Amino acid sequence: MIRTSKSEPTIFIIFGGTGDLNYRKLAPALYNLFLDGWLPEQFSIIGTGRTKLTDDEYKVKLHEGINQFSRSGKAEDGKWEEFSQHIYYQIADATNPDSYKEFGTRIENHNNEWNAKATVIYYLAVSPNFFPIIAKNISKSNLGTDPDKTRIVIEKPFGHDLESAKELNKLLGSIFTERQIYRIDHYLGKETVQNILAFRFANSILEPVWNRSYIEHVQISVTEQLGVEDRGDYYDKAGALRDMIQNHLLQLLCIIAMEPPINFNADEVRNRKVDVLRAMRKFTPDDVRMSAVRGQYGKGWMEGKQVPGYREEAKVDPDSNTETFAAIKFFIDNWRWQGVPFYVRTGKRMHQASSVISIQFKDVPHFVFPKEAVESWQQNRLIISIQPEMSIRLEVQAKRPGLDMILNTVDMVFDYKGTYASQAPEAYETLLLDTMMGDQTLFMRGDQVEEAWDLIMPVLSTWNNKKSLNFPNYSADSWGPELAEALIARDGFHWFTLPVNKKSGSK
Ligand code: BG6
Repeated sequence: MIRTSKSEPTIFIIFGGTGDLNYRKLAPALYNLFLDGWLPEQFSIIGTGRTKLTDDEYKVKLHEGINQFSRSGKAEDGKWEEFSQHIYYQIADATNPDSYKEFGTRIENHNNEWNAKATVIYYLAVSPNFFPIIAKNISKSNLGTDPDKTRIVIEKPFGHDLESAKELNKLLGSIFTERQIYRIDHYLGKETVQNILAFRFANSILEPVWNRSYIEHVQISVTEQLGVEDRGDYYDKAGALRDMIQNHLLQLLCIIAMEPPINFNADEVRNRKVDVLRAMRKFTPDDVRMSAVRGQYGKGWMEGKQVPGYREEAKVDPDSNTETFAAIKFFIDNWRWQGVPFYVRTGKRMHQASSVISIQFKDVPHFVFPKEAVESWQQNRLIISIQPEMSIRLEVQAKRPGLDMILNTVDMVFDYKGTYASQAPEAYETLLLDTMMGDQTLFMRGDQVEEAWDLIMPVLSTWNNKKSLNFPNYSADSWGPELAEALIARDGFHWFTLPVNKKSGSK
């Protein structure tokens, strides 16, 4: 995360090299790292998959992906020409140990050519049922034995529940050391998410008020307008809890709630985050009923277009019990946060695409103004917008200009677009570069993943064991099921949404 030197010669071996993730995210991220001068002179990208392709055919495919999805727009001819010299394709059946001999030969050839021992990064951009076999085959072929020079990147989902996550951790731990294992949560690579760490720990004015004495409640809301798209197969077995809350939303919560780390070392930061997960109050089945709400979208209209309900989506069970929306109220049982509710919610096909954290402070202890002075009144609130708007706003009361004393709420704003001319890197650029540099701060450690699963298991099993009788219970383009409003309204609050005129666009 703090970059001191350019990385060493590096070989990326991308399993799932012909897949969507590589096409949309990894290849464009590597290309942008190349453009910005972050890649070493000696690097190679070896995509691998079962499809038969030549190097040139593969390059054409990645070129298309970059042209379509790179944040820097279409690849310039000269730059692409230079970058593409480093791309190779190897047809391979990842389940067959023999295929790995070829990787070994390629690594050796590069090392000889570069007269160096390259760092080898195995990137598993494949379906999770291939994680174990690929790890085992890397081990059988002796390709992962050097803890300083080999790394494995595991995409989510990391496990399907606590048991399977433990099993996967155990297997990986028998082959690699923890410092070789990079478990991706792409939210941690987002610029605005990293900035929460800077905001909290580089400003002395926040720490005194960052606790139960001043903060009334916290909301973390990640809403999407998209439905499940073409991922019905995966999503119907996952649902919002596994897909978003177990990882992205709990990671955001940890960053908001963690104690200040002693320094920025990966383990120091991750220890403080695990502390939060360990302090979170566990649910009993009764708590699940009171503190968690699930939803599934029905059909409706989004921006003038008719969209199907979840149960009508491709590769989704027409009688599916899978939730596409989840809202949960958490508590953290420690000195800093005792009694402060943390409400999280996420959903697909919602009215607005936005990821926002709202931290509401307690009201003034005594109201000194006459009633007539109040035009609008909002307790101080800190709004951290992660996307699409990238900003931090502090809502404060101010006197409206005029001869009367009239108070209304105004925003003090830090907005990325207005402050910085440069474009923020994509999450995958940050995470790939960190993998090359050997920095694990923004990756999930094994114990973190297990704690997060442990926390949500009671909700998962309650929901799995009891079919929802009212699905679908929210329509596309809404704010989710009414019960989610009730969850927070019972405590006297309401979900925060960014007013439309403060949105800088939607997905
Ligand atoms: C992924 C989930 O991890 O995150 C998707 O599997 C979700 O279902 C996506 O749409 C959201 O990511 P972002 O970066 O678009 O907010």
